[in-house]
Amino acid sequence: MRLGVNIDHVATLRQARKTFEPDPVFAALIVQQAGADQITLHLREDRRHIQDKDLELIKELVVIPVNLEMAPTEEMRQIALRIKPNRVTLVPEKRQEITTEGGLDVLGMKEFLKSYIIPLKAEGIEVSFFIEPQVEHVRASKDVGADAVELHTGKYANLWKEGKASQVKEEIEKIRRASIEAKNLGLRVYAGHGLTYHNVSAFVRELKDLVEELNVGHSIISNSVIFGLERAVKEFLSLIKE
Ligand code: PXP
Repeated sequence: MRLGVNIDHVATLRQARKTFEPDPVFAALIVQQAGADQITLHLREDRRHIQDKDLELIKELVVIPVNLEMAPTEEMRQIALRIKPNRVTLVPEKRQEITTEGGLDVLGMKEFLKSYIIPLKAEGIEVSFFIEPQVEHVRASKDVGADAVELHTGKYANLWKEGKASQVKEEIEKIRRASIEAKNLGLRVYAGHGLTYHNVSAFVRELKDLVEELNVGHSIISNSVIFGLERAVKEFLSLIKE
């Protein structure tokens, strides 16, 4: 299974102070150096974390594929056509949400999405839809012309956190059915959202033959803060102590 690392939260930390560190471009290069298969980043309409310049520099500097998550707006399409990420993942976006809630309503936006993605595909950009693991949305994604679907694992993660073992199993089966449908229709299958060091192993064990790639952000960036803290303190101390 491939790993795409979402670096948005490095930018979240920087934007908390509107300063220059931590730099998501630097983070993207480290993620690449560590062996990840892809850099994933979400340029939100409100620019709350990743900025346009970050996207430009990351596309210029990293050699592994860049997966741009974005809302299906005209502004974002123009940016994607200019920057040409390897993949665009279309996600729903609400201003007030803390993170992406729910999948794209492909069923309800079929005609719009059909024409929206044509110029992206014409530029050779892979188009993926971030959807709930429901076969109807998978079929609609195929009808619209997507190359891939990223199945939303948020519900799986929440049920796991709440210790609801039988519902976790049911959710895995839902994701399995959606993955099988997608594969049968010739769509590539990715997954992500809310995956952590705790819940990812069971997911991989169950779905490794169907899901090609995971996109993980918050948990990896959170743990990098914790794993890196001791070293950061020691280095700071070395600057102030004789
Ligand atoms: N995939 C998509 C489409 C997302 O919107 C996000 C969150 O930005 C992720 C994956 C990563 O989710 P998390 O940060 O919870 O790992």
